[in-house]
Amino acid sequence: MDFSIKAFDTKNTLAAAKSGCVAVAVFENKKLSTAAKALDVNGDITAALKSGDISGKAGSTLLLRGVAGVAAARVLLVGMGADEVLTEKNFSSAIGATLKVFGTIGAQDAIIAFPLGDVKERDLNWALRAIVIGANEAEFRSDAQKSKKEPAPTGVRKITIAATEANQLKGTLAQSIAIANGMNLTKELGNLSPNVCTPTYLANTARKLAEDHGFDIEVLERKQLEALKMGSFLSVAKGSDEAPKFIVLKHNGGKAKDAPVVLVGKGITFDTGGISLKPGPNMDEMKYDMCGAGSVLGTFRAIGEMGLKLNVVGIVAACENMPSGRATKPGDIVTAMSGTTIEILNTDAEGRLILCDALTYAERFKPAAVVDIATLTGACIVALGHHTSGLFTRHDAAHDALAEELVDAGKQAGDVAWRFPLGENYNEQLKSNFADLANIGTPGAASITAACFLENFTRKYTWAHLDIAGTAWKSGAQKGATGRPVPLLTTFLLNRV
Ligand code: BES
Ligand code: MN
Ligand code: ZN
Repeated sequence: MDFSIKAFDTKNTLAAAKSGCVAVAVFENKKLSTAAKALDVNGDITAALKSGDISGKAGSTLLLRGVAGVAAARVLLVGMGADEVLTEKNFSSAIGATLKVFGTIGAQDAIIAFPLGDVKERDLNWALRAIVIGANEAEFRSDAQKSKKEPAPTGVRKITIAATEANQLKGTLAQSIAIANGMNLTKELGNLSPNVCTPTYLANTARKLAEDHGFDIEVLERKQLEALKMGSFLSVAKGSDEAPKFIVLKHNGGKAKDAPVVLVGKGITFDTGGISLKPGPNMDEMKYDMCGAGSVLGTFRAIGEMGLKLNVVGIVAACENMPSGRATKPGDIVTAMSGTTIEILNTDAEGRLILCDALTYAERFKPAAVVDIATLTGACIVALGHHTSGLFTRHDAAHDALAEELVDAGKQAGDVAWRFPLGENYNEQLKSNFADLANIGTPGAASITAACFLENFTRKYTWAHLDIAGTAWKSGAQKGATGRPVPLLTTFLLNRV
């Protein structure tokens, strides 16, 4: 989809704009939005509303052709519910309905003239981003591995968004497009089959990104990881024939002396559980266990495209978690890069084992903040379902501030996260009789004890953990990666500039 933004005024009227279709809002009780009034030159729109052909309920639509006094070939009336308060939900469902119609009509280009500034508790930037990300979502295809490609999207290919504040919104438009493109990369990587999307594939994707956007890149191989004494990460990779990869990307958008934000992604390209093998049903979905890594790469695509003026380091720890004669066994004790010894009581709690070494590695960047992103615990889905990511930090002033930044960025981006508590009581659940730490906690609060495990390795900087087990992909008929939390992360970084 091609997007642009334009201001219409008394000289350049909406009615005189040549286009395949103009979409305008109408409300319940036959009320017209300002843009709908501007197209009601001969009363055709009022007449259409009077006829009862459209209810005005959010998501209702009526396509008109040949509206008198309007240059566009079609006018699409889109219901937005009650006009007194335009809710986020109603605005979003109106966008969804509009894009559905756009996909089926003969028009190639269209104008969306919606009341962007009227959404309750939201601003113009939010409304614009909702349109761009919605349109991108609507045309996304996951047919990369189908021999017969799904038919190319038809209908509208070019959308002009009408906004009086067009100039002021150009930056937001570019950012929204970059976020949408970043989400697409995250989704593509997530959806790829695990025999294709291996750690090596992730490393090659990162190399390509670095080439396209001028990032520095380093990919550490097994030998180098051994030299760094990443015994915890390597213990997970041990059972697999695929080579582990430790990817470090650097976007140097800020001043040389500015401390970077470090993003750390869990890149388990397939999680069988290892010797603590997972049950068979739906195990295929464990190809999505690299979605944290995918979101780091997607966020890098977004910040590369927008030329973000901030230093950002991306770390991806990538390997498979497989059972084999060489695999780690329950009871094995390994030494992490930090020197901490870990009793691996369950080889299926592998995410924390790869992340703890990546988090220790992150120390060398003297980071302003570190955020790790991981499909870490099934328990996070029990707690929050598929709507909200879990957020975990220590409880002090610096971490409260970081948590607030992330929660706010999530709200702003429509990619929400909710903070959980951490603390000494939970940390005690991780005691081992034989090593410094066990890799699973005693029963209860499994998402929190997983975060506590990571917390042990993050004491040298300000850190937050996002558990995206419930939000990174959808199951069932709609199975597919969501591209989350790229909007949250990108917005968080943008707000830091
Ligand atoms: N990748 C899984 C977590 C997961 C499971 C995410 C299902 C999304 C859906 C993780 O590696 C894992 O297996 N975690 C275990 C931890 C347990 C052994 C303490 C879990 O959540 O069951
Ligand atoms: Mn696991
Ligand atoms: Zn896992």
